[in-house]
Amino acid sequence: MSTSYFEKEKIVTEDYYPYIKGFFKKFAGIYNIAALPLVTVRKKVIKMAAAGEGAEVLDIATGTGKQAFAFARNGYKVTGIDLSEDMLKIARRNNKYANLDLKEVDAACLPFEDSKFDVSCVSFALHDMPSAIRERVVGEMARVTKQGGVIVAADYALPKNGLVRYCAYRFIRWFESKYYPEFIDNNLHGLLKKAGIRIEAERKILFGAGVIIRGAKG
Ligand SMILES: C[S@@+](CC[C@H](N)C(=O)[O-])C[C@H]1O[C@@H](n2cnc3c(N)ncnc32)[C@H](O)[C@@H]1O
Repeated sequence: MSTSYFEKEKIVTEDYYPYIKGFFKKFAGIYNIAALPLVTVRKKVIKMAAAGEGAEVLDIATGTGKQAFAFARNGYKVTGIDLSEDMLKIARRNNKYANLDLKEVDAACLPFEDSKFDVSCVSFALHDMPSAIRERVVGEMARVTKQGGVIVAADYALPKNGLVRYCAYRFIRWFESKYYPEFIDNNLHGLLKKAGIRIEAERKILFGAGVIIRGAKG
């Protein structure tokens, strides 16, 4: 008997939580070293968000908190959420900002009211989710962001040049979670648009192996 689309989605999402928590349990200790290439990306994300003074920012899947720290350093009121307690443990240990609150929360089911935040940001985490969860997470980001507020997504992309593209794909696939190939084959613009997010700007990063997209709600 063949498995229906919904049964397949259920199997994929049931496996996802233990898989991704286990993945980042192993990875947490070396994450800040592995993520060194993202050091220059943090400021670019802040610039793309272009949030006003005192804005309330939600950093989805904050991990060890590097992007959230960058927002907090700029004076915003920041909430960072993640489902990996191993990643959050490192974030909490390094957090020196009174304006940053870190919480253990599933981004697919945010415990925040509608339209709470001026900015919702997700950096280098959507590729760590199966498509059904990814869609839900982006939907949740749109829900908790104010009308006219900003949604920023930074993640992997594929460089234009064929050989560079092939090498980047093989290299990233080697160390990334099992959801990366499916993510990279999909359309991030389409995903954001489906959640009612209007794309306003895009900036390539990491020599074309990454992208920052700025969208607006409504
Ligand atoms: C590669 S790390 C990125 C961390 C951080 N955003 C950064 O830019 O360095 C991906 C993070 O996504 C988190 N994550 C994956 N699925 C999640 C979910 N459904 N809810 C919250 N966090 C999630 C993982 O636990 C992990 O910490």
